[in-house]
Amino acid sequence: MAIEIRRVRTDELTDYFDAMSTGFLARPDVARLAEDVVGTWDFERVWGAFDGGRIRGTFRTWATELTVPGGATIPAAAVTNVTVMPTHRRRGLMRGMTLAEHAAARDRGEIAALLYAAEYPIYGRFGYGPGCREAKWAIDVSSTTFTGESGAGVELVTPNEESRDLMKGVFEAWRARQPGEIRRREFRWDSDLGLRDDVWDPRWKGFLALHRDRSGAVDGYARYRGEDKWERSQPRNILTVDELHALTDDAYATLWRFLAEIDWVGTVKAERRTAGERLPWLLTNARAAHLSDVVDGMWVRLFDLRRALEARTYEREGRLVLEVVDAEAPDGRIRVELEAGPDGATARKTRRSAELTVDVSALGSAYLGGIGLRKASLARGWDEHRTGALADADALLRTLDEPWCSTFF
Ligand SMILES: CC(C)(COP(=O)(O)OP(=O)(O)OC[C@H]1O[C@@H](n2cnc3c(N)ncnc32)[C@H](O)[C@@H]1OP(=O)(O)O)[C@@H](O)C(=O)NCCC(=O)NCCS
Repeated sequence: MAIEIRRVRTDELTDYFDAMSTGFLARPDVARLAEDVVGTWDFERVWGAFDGGRIRGTFRTWATELTVPGGATIPAAAVTNVTVMPTHRRRGLMRGMTLAEHAAARDRGEIAALLYAAEYPIYGRFGYGPGCREAKWAIDVSSTTFTGESGAGVELVTPNEESRDLMKGVFEAWRARQPGEIRRREFRWDSDLGLRDDVWDPRWKGFLALHRDRSGAVDGYARYRGEDKWERSQPRNILTVDELHALTDDAYATLWRFLAEIDWVGTVKAERRTAGERLPWLLTNARAAHLSDVVDGMWVRLFDLRRALEARTYEREGRLVLEVVDAEAPDGRIRVELEAGPDGATARKTRRSAELTVDVSALGSAYLGGIGLRKASLARGWDEHRTGALADADALLRTLDEPWCSTFF
């Protein structure tokens, strides 16, 4: 029987969650999940692959905004729930759903799609490229102290609506200046602070530290949990940082230091951070901050190249006629003349000869400034029509600071 790709109706949600959780090898309460989302999901964005009326593949996006270099935000679709039942794999079900939602996202005027890939090889063929790297840090607190004065201004607060709103204020100010961060969905605040039940995970139980500047304004926070661990009758507890964001260098350094100097703590661990973090530079022994698992984080798929390139700023001046191969574009490729600099850019359609041809997945990787276009092009190749054009484009798109991989999927 032919597979039908179409949007999922609200009365099909339990079937949707049944297929999705089967694909993810999980057994949640599907009726509860359906109840939980029915009033909040945008059903224009929820896709199923149907076989004989039953859902066998799932795909969904939600509307977000992505902060780009320079601090502008662009409308984007955050991709999630991508699964196909084990009985129906490698028959094009995911391809069908992906292409349907990509077309819908273009119609809605979204400039990009974003996702985290469960497995690296899946998404390059659909025009996605890893746009930033994420990493894990572990500080062995017994082998280091912190440089500088011991900071003040940390306060432990009860996670509740009031402290949530203070956290929100910091996050909003932080994301506005942090390339790679996205808008956080409203329900996440309460589940991340353990103020509501989450059907997938146990309720969060932990601690919330706020940092205040000299005027008393909150300018940073850390959300963390402790894990009891003793070795030879000595406390070696593990402290896991779920989130730490700060608006100033002082708040950043003070919060890390506060966490590392808590009695009983042997190790401070943090996942889904960036490899370029300033953390080791705050320590008298930088090797005490061990970096591991540096992998691809958020992937970026650009739909509207001209708007994407014009939305961001560039740290150098440059001009380039760029041709981008995109199987989903009307002619399979798009050519733009990019004139870019610190104040912004224009990207016009042009008939002029291209100086460089790259794949859309490579441009997605390089777009946020953290991944070089030259490296990103190795996977699918490039064509240099002017010697040096790839190096020029690489340098033009790069930023000094690494983008951040949003953790809010
Ligand atoms: C990943 C998954 C959704 C793919 O679904 P599918 O319907 O089998 O994919 P399709 O048949 O549409 O495949 C499209 C293309 O992707 C390739 N592909 C699909 N899954 C792949 C994988 N895991 N690794 C490498 N390539 C993959 C296919 O070979 C095919 O390639 P082609 O275009 O060269 O022919 C499915 O395998 C799955 O549910 N996996 C477990 C859950 C998961 O990992 N979800 C992704 C969450 S980010």
